[in-house]
Amino acid sequence: MAVEPAPEQIIVSSGSPLEGTVRVTGAKNSVLKLMAATLLAEGSYRLSNVPRIVDVNLMAELLRAVGCRVQWDTNHTAELHIDVPAEITPVAPYNIVERFRASVVVLGPMLARCGEATVALPGGDDFGPRPVDMHVRGLTELGAQVEVVHGNIEAFTEQLLGGRVVLEFPSVGATENLLMAAVAAKGITVIDNAAREPEIFDLCCFLQSMGAVISGAGTSTLMIEGAGTTQWLQAADHTVIPDRIVAATYLAALGVASGEVFVEGARYDHMELLCAKLAEMGMILTGEADGIRAISPRRLDSVDCSTLPYPGVATDYKPFLVAMLATASGVGIVTENLFPGRFRYVDELRRMGADIRTDAHHAVVRGVERLSGAPVRAHDIRAGAALTVAGLGAEGPTIITDAHHVRRGYENLVGDLESLGADVRTGQAST
Ligand code: EPU
Repeated sequence: MAVEPAPEQIIVSSGSPLEGTVRVTGAKNSVLKLMAATLLAEGSYRLSNVPRIVDVNLMAELLRAVGCRVQWDTNHTAELHIDVPAEITPVAPYNIVERFRASVVVLGPMLARCGEATVALPGGDDFGPRPVDMHVRGLTELGAQVEVVHGNIEAFTEQLLGGRVVLEFPSVGATENLLMAAVAAKGITVIDNAAREPEIFDLCCFLQSMGAVISGAGTSTLMIEGAGTTQWLQAADHTVIPDRIVAATYLAALGVASGEVFVEGARYDHMELLCAKLAEMGMILTGEADGIRAISPRRLDSVDCSTLPYPGVATDYKPFLVAMLATASGVGIVTENLFPGRFRYVDELRRMGADIRTDAHHAVVRGVERLSGAPVRAHDIRAGAALTVAGLGAEGPTIITDAHHVRRGYENLVGDLESLGADVRTGQAST
């Protein structure tokens, strides 16, 4: 019987300030949706600036299960080629879907293309329930029959019909599924209270280059002129936008370790409110044409902050902000408005001596001068990255187990931090 590999560890020691240039990869939360969107039309697609992360491999596996050919370019490490055949099998099987939440976005394009789709209910991160009711309701309003039965979302339609859908909350996934379904609806669809994340703007640009007629991209009202079928859409090439959450991770690492770093490729305009918070904490940030230059000259000051849909401070930044506040001067209150269960990593930070109290969706963080390195566990991608950031501000080594989660969203977190001078490496837990 094959022996399971020992869980991966990240081992961090605090030390010198960070210095140098680090380049951000393409955005996970964009590329996964672009890959799903290719299902809308037959042809050969080339996606550039694609991060080599586990979730991209999982989405590739899903596209292959549906009938596509997916392969990395042999010369360009960040280029992915997808060949979508004339016929696809619109079934996303449980054994792939349960491994990553973003898989639910194949529902809209498969339904649009085939008039039917079966998608196993998605799995995903370990931070509480992640319902799909808004996806289901929205598609129903566009004329689909959608049922959640036997662990699957099953959708069917003779013809999707344009209409007005008002989302109860600007859900990223629901906006994306509806957007991709609406391009094949007959007539005009208006999605109100749509999510406005840069990754949705990127998806709109890709769909437009495939021939979709969309207005309002980047705003909370999207208007899609559907032609009743996907047959007029064509394959296209696209360069993925930079990953603002990866960029935020490096800024947070700098905030904790101090120093001066250029985050190459990061888009200041995608991260404005976060940058304003970091500036309030004492960092100096400058948006440049090809990245963000950041200086962290001293121990940071605490701030309060609340997570909100874009352009608010993203929930994905919160674990990094909490890690930064753990060693900042003063008290900061962080309020989570998207995923109430997203505080699990706080117990791990407490093991490192952080003074954090949580009450419902609030965390009160009283900064201590220095954390104390300890063995901790990563429960999801961002938690693993945040514990790595926290480790930079701790006395003694921090050993993060279950660090394989980090590879779902980061191509080379450890190598990148190392290149900036951090004392960080990977290891294997002894079994
Ligand atoms: N929600 C519902 N019903 C739905 C859909 C969502 O109640 O039908 C709720 C969720 O439970 C949550 C809120 O609405 O409370 C927001 O969820 P949303 O649908 O916006 O999130 P998502 O599409 O599932 C994406 C990102 C997350 C990111 C959130 C919020 C991807 C693959 N994931 O998730 O990223 O936290 O938007 O910005 O795009 C990550 O990258 O680590 C990550 C978790």
